[in-house]
Amino acid sequence: MVKPYQAFLDKILIPEAELQARIRELAAEINRDYAGEELLVICILRGGVMFLTDLIRHINIPLAIEFMAVSSYGAGARASQGDVRITLDLNTTIFGKHVIIVEDIIDSGHTLSSVIDLLKTREPASIYICTLLDKYERREVDVPIRYCGFKIQNEFVFGYGLDMDEYYRNLPFVATVDLDKYEPPSG
Ligand code: IMP
Ligand code: MG
Repeated sequence: MVKPYQAFLDKILIPEAELQARIRELAAEINRDYAGEELLVICILRGGVMFLTDLIRHINIPLAIEFMAVSSYGAGARASQGDVRITLDLNTTIFGKHVIIVEDIIDSGHTLSSVIDLLKTREPASIYICTLLDKYERREVDVPIRYCGFKIQNEFVFGYGLDMDEYYRNLPFVATVDLDKYEPPSG
């Protein structure tokens, strides 16, 4: 049985209205920076999905979307080990395109640094990162972030795309977890 999030909620860190307001600001920056261009927005599955769909609603530059999935850590572990595998690659060429990568959170930086290195070999016209959250204190590899929603402290968060053992991504806010009260679902 998967418990309702209230069983282990510590606090709501970023309420829905605050997320949405900030996302509109990020979209406005992107609209200014890419005026007159076309965009390819690459969402990193699965965490970036909520952010992607809300963000692109406010972008008025012509754009296409693509998805990529990477697995950054072994089952059960909560820290990236710097072992990053592409589990779903793009369906399109990015050569000569203006690319923005949309991600839920940058933690150690290993995931995005590998993704960026790989995608740069395909020679896009430009490639930048747009992350909802930046857990900057945990950075082990430097990644250049052009658009960042919120810098957060070193706490495990869930909701709004971010999961706890694959659940709770659908919540419209970002919350912190009380790890003493959380039990991973069995089976
Ligand atoms: P990095 O390679 O350490 O930067 O790991 C980034 C990935 O770890 C993100 O795409 C998330 O999937 C996951 N992650 C890191 N911190 C959290 C968190 O607090 N909650 C949920 N997922 C997280
Ligand atoms: Mg992720």
